[in-house]
Amino acid sequence: MSTQHDAIAVIDFGGQYAHLIATKVRRAGVYAEIRQPEDATEKFASYKGVILSGSPSLASHGEDSDWNKDILDLDVPILGFCFGHQEIAKYYGGTVVHGGREWGAATLHLRGEHELFHGQPSQQTVWMSHFDSVTELGPDFKELGYSILGADGEPHPNAAIGSDTLKRYGFQYHPEVGDTEYGAEMIANFALRICGCSPSWNMDAVVEQQITAIREQVGEQSVFLLASGGVDSTVAAKLIGMALPEGRFKLLHVDNGLMRKEESAQVMKMFDDLGLGEHTYFVDASEDFLSALDGEIEPEKKRHRIGETFVAVFEREAKKLGIEDHLLGQGTIYPDTVETGGTKRAHTIKTHHNRVPIIEQMMAEGRVIEPLADLYKVEVRELGEKLGIPKWALYRHPFPGPGLGVRLLCSDGKVMAPPVAYAIEEVLEPLELSGHAMPIRSVGVKADLRVYEHPVIIDGGEDMETVLEGARRVLSTVPDVNRALWNLSGTPVETLIPLAAQMTRERLDLLREADALVMDGLVRHGLYDSIWQCPTAMVPLQVNGKGKELVILRPVHSERAMSARPAPLPEALIEELRIQIMGLEGVAGLALDLTSKPPGTIEWE
Ligand code: XMP
Repeated sequence: MSTQHDAIAVIDFGGQYAHLIATKVRRAGVYAEIRQPEDATEKFASYKGVILSGSPSLASHGEDSDWNKDILDLDVPILGFCFGHQEIAKYYGGTVVHGGREWGAATLHLRGEHELFHGQPSQQTVWMSHFDSVTELGPDFKELGYSILGADGEPHPNAAIGSDTLKRYGFQYHPEVGDTEYGAEMIANFALRICGCSPSWNMDAVVEQQITAIREQVGEQSVFLLASGGVDSTVAAKLIGMALPEGRFKLLHVDNGLMRKEESAQVMKMFDDLGLGEHTYFVDASEDFLSALDGEIEPEKKRHRIGETFVAVFEREAKKLGIEDHLLGQGTIYPDTVETGGTKRAHTIKTHHNRVPIIEQMMAEGRVIEPLADLYKVEVRELGEKLGIPKWALYRHPFPGPGLGVRLLCSDGKVMAPPVAYAIEEVLEPLELSGHAMPIRSVGVKADLRVYEHPVIIDGGEDMETVLEGARRVLSTVPDVNRALWNLSGTPVETLIPLAAQMTRERLDLLREADALVMDGLVRHGLYDSIWQCPTAMVPLQVNGKGKELVILRPVHSERAMSARPAPLPEALIEELRIQIMGLEGVAGLALDLTSKPPGTIEWE
């Protein structure tokens, strides 16, 4: 860690959002590091404060309770959120019970002034997500605020608690989540006013720290970086290029056959424009990837095969080019790790291509370098701007390493039994909508756990608002459903038959065509910059006895990819895409994915 900067430790008790706390502390200008609950007390010696994260565990049941509590005896301020708040309350003599649960937005009513709430109104919106609550406080503590859910709800005590003598504090809500109105300010107040940190951490410091870290890790070796041309690997390339002397850094761009239409040619040109061209090698390995994927229909296995093939191609090319004693460079960012279950308590949502076991093995051997592994996409883009990478390269839509491989669903033609139809009809009928559960499955995330469930396709509805409401109702009430789509084909769905289909060039070309039409449409309608990402997926389904493929549009708004909202598309664009995509040979239908993340993920697999 950086010795010139004041720092805060964030203890990660699990849950998909814990890492956001560290990001928010850094946003306040203070360096933050993630630590584990069982880490030795000595590891905390240099921090000026500690934050305890939330957790999927229940403090009332004593779950995950044998962490290193000596940390609570450190002579620095400590603040806990949700589970962390309850653990602090318990340790200092308070009571936590299973009950008093709250979900979503609540109003925090402050009891009086406090440095943690400096500059904030006495009533404000906070974001709740808990089953347990603190009912009694230990002798040194007092209630700093209570919460009320809804317009005329009952007060929930102890939403914020603290002891200024002990310098121990707790919030039942999640200030790290954007939906807590003054969450960023509370975190900043803790770091700056309570812990007394000076705000010296910024993007210049990140660049400086990373360049030193890269030089230290690489030593006398060299780096060979897998560069897809996406935002992350491009920023990583620029950073590593700045850190190492001429000749010790090379890039490999692999055409895995799963890229967008004409993408590899554009990427090679982009590297030229960015001044990285002379260090970049290109290989067409599409045959390797397609034969690795042959016969595979299960999403996690597809992801594993893609990741393993990247490593095989990388090693083969390094050998061919005579690049020896090198580290594998990757543009891995934080969500790749947490979604792969790569933090101690996190569940595997999906294995990212840069986190397959063979790469984890190489990491354990110190053979991988990933300067962005701790950042989210927003920070990567800011860092890229600092490094002088032009905006057009930084603000391209994110594209996953496995590319179209996770957007082209494959099938053995067998029906995956969908949930019962009557439950769907019951929910949609009052809105004058109808729906069909699809006989295939896609990946999603519910309560921090991976799910592999059925999409429902909705028919009817004159306007998107009604269909969005229908989608919300289906997703919250029908079991075994994790996605809701709107049928844009023009003809109501009567039957959906899965067809046997593999990852073939022919199918990939059809998806490439559809994707290119979508991307063109977004640009033409001035939407490319306001929509965060818009995957186009394709499912081998015959609709009403016709065609072979259902094409799905998945436009989303997001900031850090850990959560996402469906992005509405204008009617005119939908109409153009309907005509263009339905006109492609083999296309059986077109649908718009209206699912938020959770319960869907952005990609279908
Ligand atoms: P999901 O589908 O999990 O995706 O909501 C979150 C973000 O990550 C991208 N993604 C990947 N990126 N390798 C990557 O480099 C992968 O294996 C991978 N899988 C998903 C996805 O496009 C979205 O931006």
